Amino acid sequence: MHQGSRLLIVDDTPQNLQVLGGILREQGYKLSVAQSGAQALEVARRVLPELILLDVMMPEMDGFEVCRHLKADPATAEIPVIFLTAKTEAEDVVRGFELGAVDYVTKPFNPPELLKRVQTHLELALLRRDLEKQVEEKTSQLLQAQRLESMGQLAAGIAHEVNSPMQFIGNNTDFLSQALEELAALRRQYHQLYEQARIGGAVAPELLEKMAVALEACEVEYLDSETERALGKIQEGVKRVVEIVEGMRELAHPGGREKVAADLNHLVHSAITVCRNEWKYVADLTLDTDPGLAPVQCFPGELSQCIVNLVVNAAHAIAEAAGPGGAKGQIGVSLRPAGPWAEIRVEDNGTGIPPEVQPRIFDFLFTTKEFGKGTGQGLSLVQRVIRDHHAGEVCFETAMGKGTTFLLRLPLSQA
Ligand SMILES: Nc1ncnc2c1ncn2[C@@H]1O[C@H](COP(=O)(O)OP(=O)(O)O)[C@@H](O)[C@H]1O
Ligand SMILES: [Mg+2]
Repeated sequence: MHQGSRLLIVDDTPQNLQVLGGILREQGYKLSVAQSGAQALEVARRVLPELILLDVMMPEMDGFEVCRHLKADPATAEIPVIFLTAKTEAEDVVRGFELGAVDYVTKPFNPPELLKRVQTHLELALLRRDLEKQVEEKTSQLLQAQRLESMGQLAAGIAHEVNSPMQFIGNNTDFLSQALEELAALRRQYHQLYEQARIGGAVAPELLEKMAVALEACEVEYLDSETERALGKIQEGVKRVVEIVEGMRELAHPGGREKVAADLNHLVHSAITVCRNEWKYVADLTLDTDPGLAPVQCFPGELSQCIVNLVVNAAHAIAEAAGPGGAKGQIGVSLRPAGPWAEIRVEDNGTGIPPEVQPRIFDFLFTTKEFGKGTGQGLSLVQRVIRDHHAGEVCFETAMGKGTTFLLRLPLSQA
């Protein structure tokens, strides 16, 4: 099944190349050859073979040296290397393995053995690539699953957050429709008054009387100011709902494989909004953004998930420190550029993190919280997203009884 794979064979002795080449070519492998270490590196980088058979003893640059260079270059690091060695000293073999070789064969070759080893390592390399691909797929599925899960956890709170503005939108709409009815009655009176005035007759005193009563009844000045206020409330409510829904959409967005330029001010603001119900009972939150900050290339859904996780953790730590019915705490969220980074800080005056817990907080499934409150996925996700997906950094400072600050650093310019 690997016939047709490209192999690179490296040996400074032409006869060796001939023998080796003969055996391999007969099996249908495609071959590239090199007769020195330097040439081997050049060919390896150019043709990217699937496996390299590498002589150890060569003048100038020996096989070990070549192997070291291959492993140091990301382009060639994954290519399996099998050493060809005349010497069978254990020391040499061990050194080869330490340098990242997968196997060795001793000269003179035993063709069936050589072929078997080549085939085995081609298979292993294929399996490994396949496995890496699977791990990558699983990882992104897991990320998505975690996000959906925490969306689920936020859902009740979000419903509540949407419900209260909807309620006052409803109340104010009721008021407006009532006010409109009263104004319509008044308008009918005006209409009659106008009709009478238009035909030139004297305006009947009863009509003026009715008019006065109608005006009195609907307290026009009151209506004017109240309808304006009600409209303002409705607009405010609609804005809140839109913000929440937008935040949800940002959070739920599965995100493509490509980063997009996002306004972090907006992103942080909506992340805080969607999880408002999780913190508003235990803390006041101050948000300090930087409107001048240029858009940053990122995966917005993942980032907003990170901020939600940190803010929810901060709220939990404050609630725990305060105890039931305790005083409200403080959460500070800030965003600012610092050198090559955009820095996002989430600060709380909660419990702090005990020294023995600190080394474990980023571990997947590590939690100190009771079942149902924490799953131990939050910070591991934060780390994966910030470090692995954004080439950023995550760190924290904490003091028992004082509180904790998490710091996320995102590169302002992404490679
Ligand atoms: N702001 C914080 N203050 C105190 N402890 C924290 C804070 N953030 C995280 N931790 C600790 O780190 C642990 C892991 O956090 P996380 O990965 O978000 O999982 P979870 O919140 O589900 O427990 C928490 O259980 C808690 O012990
Ligand atoms: Mg958490």
